[in-house]
Amino acid sequence: HELDMKLEALEKGGYDHFMLKEIYEQARSIRDCLRGRIYPAQGKIQLGGLQEYKEKLKMVDRIIIVACGTSWHAGLVGEYLIEEYGRVPVEVEYASEFRYRNPIITHKDIVIAISQSGETADTMAALEIAKERGATIFGICNVVGASIPRITDAGAYTHAGPEIGVASTKAFTAQVTVLTLIAFYIAQQRGTISQSKLIEFLTELDSIPALVERTLQCNNRVEEIAARFKDSNNCLFLGRGSSFPVALEGALKLKEISYVHAEGYPAAEMKHGPIALIDADMPVIFIATKNSSYEKVVSNIQEVKARGGRVIAIVTEGDTEVRDMAEYVIEIPQTDDAFVPLLATIPLQFLSYHIALMRGCNVDQPRNLAKSVTVE
Ligand code: G6P
Repeated sequence: HELDMKLEALEKGGYDHFMLKEIYEQARSIRDCLRGRIYPAQGKIQLGGLQEYKEKLKMVDRIIIVACGTSWHAGLVGEYLIEEYGRVPVEVEYASEFRYRNPIITHKDIVIAISQSGETADTMAALEIAKERGATIFGICNVVGASIPRITDAGAYTHAGPEIGVASTKAFTAQVTVLTLIAFYIAQQRGTISQSKLIEFLTELDSIPALVERTLQCNNRVEEIAARFKDSNNCLFLGRGSSFPVALEGALKLKEISYVHAEGYPAAEMKHGPIALIDADMPVIFIATKNSSYEKVVSNIQEVKARGGRVIAIVTEGDTEVRDMAEYVIEIPQTDDAFVPLLATIPLQFLSYHIALMRGCNVDQPRNLAKSVTVE
């Protein structure tokens, strides 16, 4: 037993929990995920597994993404990116719903399964149906040689390394990284992006691991904030555009490991329901980075303030407008809209981690949850 404890401590690499270690690994895991896949100066993306399907990606009319849990959130980020840059319609489906509703799929479709473990029963079953109906099936998985990568026509591994914490962290950002690559790859094949623009994007993407490194420095700040809100029993996460799935993911993390009721919502939908919940006991976490919807998010923040809600905002470094309005801000480095999810997710991971710890929860093995769900 003592040996087991020592071994575990060793595996945690000096961190108190696997989750914390895995959060901190993200600069490296994203770098590993990008390695050998982007050549910014040449404006080249190399996705070995998808090479053979280049033509198919060029001609495809529709992409369907199937996944569960955190991987489903990554899929939603992928939808924004693929539609924005590749201009292909994307549908993102809960695998468990998709498989049981006699889905309309043809040989013209590409179905992408996203799964950290590569073993999730519902995701696997959804893929099998898609395959039977003639679709081309791709996988975005982390565990090499798992069931999903074995049945797919092609795919791209996330290369995040083993993820032990039950709540997914580094696998999520690696999934988003792969989806970003796929979005730009499709854009290049279809000519929906200019080569010079692509070079700019890839150059910025190449700097993301360094920006993640800087973002990780928010840990202490987030811990302070967590101490203020640890006793709240509810929490709302709001964002627009690709920050909406980030809000969903922030809420899921808090539910999973802190057992705090949390909901993620598109910021603009707040007025259609959740606004009724707002009072002085309701922390509202906004993803309010400087991008195309910034001004709209700012007015949503004002709406929450006007109702006595308590605002915590994730903002772009140097932002003063939101800083003056929010009770707390957490700064993340400036980057292109396309890459904000990779940075904005990190403070939310820290927030759930600290709140869980302060509430005495088992961070790495939350009650009732499993790392790999092979039941239906
Ligand atoms: C479980 C895990 C989640 C994960 C989900 C999907 O619920 O606790 O962290 O997101 O399964 O797993 P997958 O391996 O398919 O990504």
